[in-house]
Amino acid sequence: MIMKRPILIHPDPRLKKVCTPVADLSDDLRQLSDDMLETMYHAPGIGLAAPQVGVLDRLIVLDCVKEDGAKPRPLVMFNPEIVAASDDQSVYEEGCLSIPDQYAEVTRPAEVEVSWLDRDGNSQKEVFRDLWATCVQHEIDHLDGKLFIDYLKPLRRQLITRKMQKLKRERTRT
Ligand code: NI
Repeated sequence: MIMKRPILIHPDPRLKKVCTPVADLSDDLRQLSDDMLETMYHAPGIGLAAPQVGVLDRLIVLDCVKEDGAKPRPLVMFNPEIVAASDDQSVYEEGCLSIPDQYAEVTRPAEVEVSWLDRDGNSQKEVFRDLWATCVQHEIDHLDGKLFIDYLKPLRRQLITRKMQKLKRERTRT
């Protein structure tokens, strides 16, 4: 049965860890990827990384199809790796399900080639552009303990972190 999982909110030590490569695709890991897609769509969000649900394995899910009525394209990536990145940069206003309601512009390579293992354990490789490129880089960062606010100036980052600490205090009180 597919279940939503609780999403960790920054700051949390598990969001700062380097995650472990997946050696064997088990049924548990496939179940986790299904649960993560469900959690992501429900949030709603366009990407989610395993550490955000407290699992320190190299697994991300994403679907950046946003147009109404367009066919969804859920991607499950085990051990995703950026094998090439363009010199061209693009700027997107990013957000994160672990940092609710906070957005900031981040500059990243406009195009990246990514390799990964899919849900069936097959090797895949694809070039991503635009929002897909930003999203896949943001999610892979999560696997290395890096958040989008780590690209911001320290003062801005501290401000956002304090807001999240306050949010977490309010949530535990209720
Ligand atoms: Ni995120």
